[in-house]
Amino acid sequence: MFGLFAKTFAPQIRRLGVDDGAACAALHASAFAFPWPQGDIETLLLERTTVADGAFGSKTDDLQGFILCRLAADEAEILTIAVAPRKRRKGLAGRLMTASIARLSTLGAKSLFLEVEAENTAARALYKRFGFATVGERKSYYRKADGTPALAYILRRTIV
Ligand SMILES: CC(C)(COP(=O)(O)OP(=O)(O)OC[C@H]1O[C@@H](n2cnc3c(N)ncnc32)[C@H](O)[C@@H]1OP(=O)(O)O)[C@@H](O)C(=O)NCCC(=O)NCCS
Repeated sequence: MFGLFAKTFAPQIRRLGVDDGAACAALHASAFAFPWPQGDIETLLLERTTVADGAFGSKTDDLQGFILCRLAADEAEILTIAVAPRKRRKGLAGRLMTASIARLSTLGAKSLFLEVEAENTAARALYKRFGFATVGERKSYYRKADGTPALAYILRRTIV
């Protein structure tokens, strides 16, 4: 019974459109030290090669998490993923990744890449769980919140 209740009120995953740009930008700003401008996110949401999913509150319909991926031939990249701080550790990022990976698969993607800051333990644990392996690194690719350079890893996994 509780399982049914939890499922009924679980956030709904659905595709994002350009109208979701403002909500994505606000959520991105709550998750990263260097937020992306709303206009840049809207441009991505308009691109045919972008695969974007959001998690929306079942009653409130507010955006609680989102993922943006880009497809180029048979390679895809996770551009960003973020979950609202108060909604973390409830499986939302996992559900968003599963939804986007399934769609990327149907669109012909065979590999999925991403970059993650070495000190981002939450994201690295998430990606490990999804079968990503380190295939490279970039020194000084990111900046930490205090402006100092940060090491990033390039991760990859196959998509079947
Ligand atoms: C990384 C992030 C997207 C994870 O979102 P989330 O919804 O909390 O993740 P989930 O609940 O789906 O977690 C799935 C798994 O990832 C791992 N994980 C997630 N957060 C973790 C944390 N803080 N510490 C350790 N492991 C973590 C766990 O294995 C977890 O499974 P479990 O809860 O059963 O142990 C979220 O912390 C976030 O938005 N961070 C800021 C933005 C960011 O860094 N994005 C990634 C940029 S590369």
